[in-house]
Amino acid sequence: MQINVTKAQQFLAAGAVEALAPQVKAAQEALENGTCPGNDFLGWLHLPSSITPEFIAEINATAKVLQENCEAVVVAGIGGSYLGARMVIDSLSSSFGWLRPSNMPRILFAGNNIGEDYLSELIDYLKGVKFGVINISKSGTTTETAITFRLLKKMCEDQRGKEEAKKVIVAVTDAKKGAARTTADKEGYKSFIIPDNVGGRFSVLTPVGLLPIAVAGFDIAALVKGAQDMEKECDINAPAEKNPAAVYAAVRNAIYQSGKKIEILCNYQPKLHNFGEWWKQLYGESEGKDGKGIFPAAVDLTTDLHSMGQWIQDGERTIFETVISVEKPNTTLCVPSDEENLDGLNFLAGKRIDEVNKMAELGTQLAHVDGGVPNMKVSIEKLDEYNLGQLIYFFEKACGISGLLLEVNPFNQPGVEAYKKNMFALLNKPGYEAESAAILRKG
Ligand code: PA5
Repeated sequence: MQINVTKAQQFLAAGAVEALAPQVKAAQEALENGTCPGNDFLGWLHLPSSITPEFIAEINATAKVLQENCEAVVVAGIGGSYLGARMVIDSLSSSFGWLRPSNMPRILFAGNNIGEDYLSELIDYLKGVKFGVINISKSGTTTETAITFRLLKKMCEDQRGKEEAKKVIVAVTDAKKGAARTTADKEGYKSFIIPDNVGGRFSVLTPVGLLPIAVAGFDIAALVKGAQDMEKECDINAPAEKNPAAVYAAVRNAIYQSGKKIEILCNYQPKLHNFGEWWKQLYGESEGKDGKGIFPAAVDLTTDLHSMGQWIQDGERTIFETVISVEKPNTTLCVPSDEENLDGLNFLAGKRIDEVNKMAELGTQLAHVDGGVPNMKVSIEKLDEYNLGQLIYFFEKACGISGLLLEVNPFNQPGVEAYKKNMFALLNKPGYEAESAAILRKG
C-alpha cells in the first residue's frame, strides 16, 4: 500500500503539515501509552499482531460447520457489527452475487435496519433455503439486531428443529453481559467474544468480521497478515514521513484547518462501494463530536461522475478527496475491434478496460485538482485479502491519530444514544417513563 499526498499538499501553506509533527508524535505516544481519551478502547491497536494461528483455525472450523450445513447465512448486526464484514466480502466477491465462483453459502445481511418490507422479504427468501445465523452485537441489546434475531431464531428452529438449529446459530457478543450472551449461553450456541476494549467500528479483525468473512470462503489468515504488516509499517518508531497513517492523519487535519470540511473517499471499482460505507462509519463516529469533525462522504467513480461529479468539480470549495486506487484488476478484458466502427470506438480497440478506467482516474484527478479540490491517493496492488488487511489497519491507525489531532475522544459515540432514548420512550420501553413524559410535554 502506498499513499501519495503531493496533490493535497500543494493546496497548503508551506510547512503546514510539518507544523503538526509534534502533535502527531504526541497522538501516537498517547495511543501507545494508553494515556489518551477513550483509553479503555485501544484493543484494536495491537490486535493484528495478537491474533494466533490457533484462533484463526477456531474461526475457520466454525465457518466450516456453517458452510457444510447452510445454503445461506444471515449476518445479523448493525454499525460496527456488520460494516467491516460486508465491506470485505463485497470487495472480494463477484460483482454479481449469483456468479460467485464458489459453492459457499450466500451471505445475507440483516439487523441493520427496521424496514418491515426488508425483513418480510428476507423471510420470504429464506423459506425453503437451509440457512444459519451469525448474531453479532457487542452490547447484545441493539434493537435493530435483536428484532431480526428474534425472527430468524424462530424461523430457523421451525425449519430445522431446535437441536439442529443450535448447530447453525453462532453468537458474537460480549463475554458476560447482554441479551445475546444470555441467549447464547442458555441455548448452547457456539459463541465468540468481542473484546471489551475493541469498539464496534474497530472490530473487523475480531470474530465480528473474521467469522462472516471466513464463512464466505475468504482467506482470513491473509487478511490478518496484511493488517499485521501494516501494524509494523505504522509503528510508533517508524519515521513519521514513512508512516502512512501519520502522513494521512496529518495531511487531512492540515486541510481541515485550512477550511475544507468534507472529505470524499473515491473508488474506481464498484466492489469497493461498501469500503466507503465502512470508512464513513469509522471516521464519522470517531471524529464527529464536540461540534467538530471532517464530514466523511463517499462516491463510486466513474459512476458518480455522472451525478456528484458536477458538485465535486464546481460546487462550494469545502471538499477534499482521498482516492483508493487499485493498480491491477484480477481479470483481463479488452475493448474489441469492430470493422464498421459505428460507435467510433476503434481508437480504444485492443486496450484493456482497466487502461480506460485508469485514464479516467488520472483525468479526474487532474480536473478536480484544477477545480480546487486537494487530492490524496492510497494505492494497493490488487483487491485481495492481504491488501484489504493493509487498508483496514492503515485507516484504523490513522483514525486514532486523526481524532486525537482534532482533540476529541475518537473511541466513544455518545451521539448515537440520543435517537435510541427517544425511540424507547416513544415505544414505552420499561425504564423510559421519564423520557416518555418529557417527549409528551414537548409534543
Ligand atoms: O461502532 C460502534 O460502536 C457502533 O456502530 C456499534 O457497532 C453499533 O451501534 C452496534 O452495536 P452493538 O454491537 O452493541 O449491537
